[in-house]
Amino acid sequence: MLNWFEHEGHICIVFELLGLSTFEFLRQNEFLPFSVEQIRHMAFQIFRAVSFLHRNQLTHTDLKPENILFVCSDYDLEYNTDMRCEAKKLRSLDVKVVDFGTATFDHQHHESLVSTRHYRAPEVILDLGWNQSCDVWSLGCVLMEFYLGRTLFATHSSVEHLAMMEKVLGPIPPHLLKQTGKQHYIHNERLNWDEQSSSNDYINKHCQPLKVRQSTDQNEDERQLFDLLGCMLEYDVCRRITLEEALWHPFFSPMRTKQKLRS
Ligand SMILES: *[C@@H]1O[C@H](CO)[C@@H](O)[C@H](O)[C@H]1NC(C)=O
Repeated sequence: MLNWFEHEGHICIVFELLGLSTFEFLRQNEFLPFSVEQIRHMAFQIFRAVSFLHRNQLTHTDLKPENILFVCSDYDLEYNTDMRCEAKKLRSLDVKVVDFGTATFDHQHHESLVSTRHYRAPEVILDLGWNQSCDVWSLGCVLMEFYLGRTLFATHSSVEHLAMMEKVLGPIPPHLLKQTGKQHYIHNERLNWDEQSSSNDYINKHCQPLKVRQSTDQNEDERQLFDLLGCMLEYDVCRRITLEEALWHPFFSPMRTKQKLRS
């Protein structure tokens, strides 16, 4: 915080001026995906920032591309060989995490509904209680969005959201469905979802299973990114990777070597 003042009854906080958000940059760049190399650089910084929060008993609860800002979003125009078009290439990938308006300490009251829908973890949707792990899920969705150039779970309904998750990640473990108080989401111990509906056709068109992506011709970097994403988009919080662990994932080996060289 650089300063603060009151304006027409509102408290205003002055921060350093940053560049565009990662979402706004994607939008202004025709939703062209970031490269795996760019994702690695951004993810490493974001994970270190958020794992610092987690070490200090805080959960951000609203991680999304709109809340990750480039320090400076100046770019050059370059020909993109994958997409065969002119594209904006950022000069620097330095990012910062913003908007601590709903950040919650472990000892504070935990609102039952947190996060912006697309980035909301399954335990939040199912009202099973949440902690730092819900940030890990949100960041999994964010990295996927950087990779695809578009939102992974684009939906406005909770049941459809869960059905999309099943399409991408496989069935939700029955013990989680058993615990939920949201009984209208469940039918015969399974998701209350009509496989014959037009919504289901929409999902089939928009959601590709992670396993299918992994089995197609991915290079080594992509394989490691998707292995990491699989550990982050884990339904069961007891089995979901922590950010501290994620920073030691092989996907980030090139970042660790660079850091050592620099120090
Ligand atoms: C979050 O909750 C899960 C399930 O209770 C637990 O396994 C995990 O250790 C918790 N994480 C943190 C950071 O407290």
